[in-house]
Amino acid sequence: MKRIELRWQEILRLLTINSGRFVSGETIGKKIGVSRSSIWKHVRNLQQKGFFIERHTNLGYRLIYPDDSPLILKEEDFETKTFAKNLLSLVETTSTNDVAKEVANKVDEGTVIISEMQSSGRGRKGRNWISPFGCGLYFSIVLKPVIPIPTIPRLTILAGVCIGEALKKLGVSVTLKWPNDIMIGNKKVGGVLSELFLEGHHIKYVIIGIGINVQVDKKDFPYEIRSFAGSIKSETGKIIPRWIILKEIVSQMEHRYYSFCEKNGEMGDLRKLWEDMAFGLNKEVYITTGSEKELCTILGLKDDGTLLVRTEYGHIKEVYAGEVLF
Ligand code: BTN
Repeated sequence: MKRIELRWQEILRLLTINSGRFVSGETIGKKIGVSRSSIWKHVRNLQQKGFFIERHTNLGYRLIYPDDSPLILKEEDFETKTFAKNLLSLVETTSTNDVAKEVANKVDEGTVIISEMQSSGRGRKGRNWISPFGCGLYFSIVLKPVIPIPTIPRLTILAGVCIGEALKKLGVSVTLKWPNDIMIGNKKVGGVLSELFLEGHHIKYVIIGIGINVQVDKKDFPYEIRSFAGSIKSETGKIIPRWIILKEIVSQMEHRYYSFCEKNGEMGDLRKLWEDMAFGLNKEVYITTGSEKELCTILGLKDDGTLLVRTEYGHIKEVYAGEVLF
């Protein structure tokens, strides 16, 4: 686990605030209390990590791209009470869910682990989650809910709703494809990977991993997934700074999570909110469960978070595990 150095973070913040403009070595030195030569050393490290920082002998340094790194955020930047008040900001890692698992026992609920890239990002069903440097959001939140175990899968629904609401606030409309996909049109732009860890009948912790393709270019997706993967930028043309998206999702998550726990894991208004954003509601799609594939109409969610569908023969079915295809 390579935690971002405090000095690197300070330099990135300064350059981001002055986005596109040069900041002299002297100014940076004064602000963060290091010599001009050591700034150059830190900048070289950042460049090696993949940050595009230009150096000009007379003018100083400027950030060319990315200028929206979530790593510039500090705990105090989050307008939350507990979520992200412990923040592990990594330049690279295998998977933020794995790091979360390593630290979960020792950290408070609401701890957020974020990385600029992941070398072994994971999705549902053991799939890879392509996590290139500088253009996506890859983070995990450690939760320690005291609610009935069967209600835990609803946290994936809750996370989807929070992502949808956060992006809507930022001017991007997404739909939610059961159980965990974030869609724009027919392209998957994000996903949620929830993992539950038990000790006997007791919940040790739950890790909610969120991946969003923000600025990922089509060419950065492997050929095999190019026809169904997309990013916010590729599907809407909008460039929204990743740190803004992160802050917004974390705020939404804190708010909805605590009210969910207060209601002992009841869905409450989550069901309706999810249905309002549902991908393919009242439309015919294929549902796969195991090796079976059936043409069905999506009717909505049940109060327990399972998907309710009508088969082409008119039977109403509850889907606990499976995939929606179109
Ligand atoms: C899916 O759509 O199957 C879920 C994708 C979840 C990806 C995120 S990225 C951050 C966290 N770390 C991981 O390895 N996976 C999740």
